[in-house]
Amino acid sequence: MTPFRTMTALALAGGVGPLLSACAEQAPPPAIVDEAFIAAAHALADQHQAELQQALSGAIAQVGPVGAIGVCEASAPALAEALSVESGVQVGRIAKRHRNPDNGVPAELAALYDDLERQPMADGAPRFVSAVVADRQVVLRAIPMKDQPCALCHGKDIAPEVTAAIAAAYPQDRATGFAAGDLRGAFLISQPLP
Ligand code: HEC
Repeated sequence: MTPFRTMTALALAGGVGPLLSACAEQAPPPAIVDEAFIAAAHALADQHQAELQQALSGAIAQVGPVGAIGVCEASAPALAEALSVESGVQVGRIAKRHRNPDNGVPAELAALYDDLERQPMADGAPRFVSAVVADRQVVLRAIPMKDQPCALCHGKDIAPEVTAAIAAAYPQDRATGFAAGDLRGAFLISQPLP
């Protein structure tokens, strides 16, 4: 009885092949969401992170932190939108203490976000959580705060001219005062259920 039930659950969760290999690697299969989506979500989060990092470090090098705020303001939402359109999967970032109010945590994802906040890292890598929420499958992957370069614009001791530029562009900013290792935000990758 039990093995049959288990097999049925595994088959429903997205095919036996990937789950068998997950078992072989001893990775606990995350509940509910299918393995292929989780793999795709990580690839998209990696790509988004690389694009953001490239834009950010290029901007800091060329125009300094004050100028880079304007570059982030213009390019971060545009990069998320372009990747979402290109992949057909919704990709973006959310944060409870956010800079851009468009990046708030939707109420239905608050518990998942809190879970990441309690423990942003596992085995030296950002943790992720996955779930089916309403009619969508979602993956949330932690974005841990780092000293360099993040503290320039999200840390506890931000240069006055940077503070002024942030206040001008984001009058409701809540995204300062973070320490290395805090949860700065999360990648949110979501897709309607098949
Ligand atoms: C030059 C200043 C600057 C630096 C350095 C910087 N950020 Fe940001 N960050 C911003 C701005 C501006 C936004 C708002 C972008 C937007 O409008 O979508 C932002 C938004 C974010 C968001 C989206 C959630 C929110 O608060 O709106 C996350 C997550 C984030 N930053 C993490 C980081 C991390 C991690 C680092 C270090 C790798 C970093 N940032 C470095 C300026 C900066």
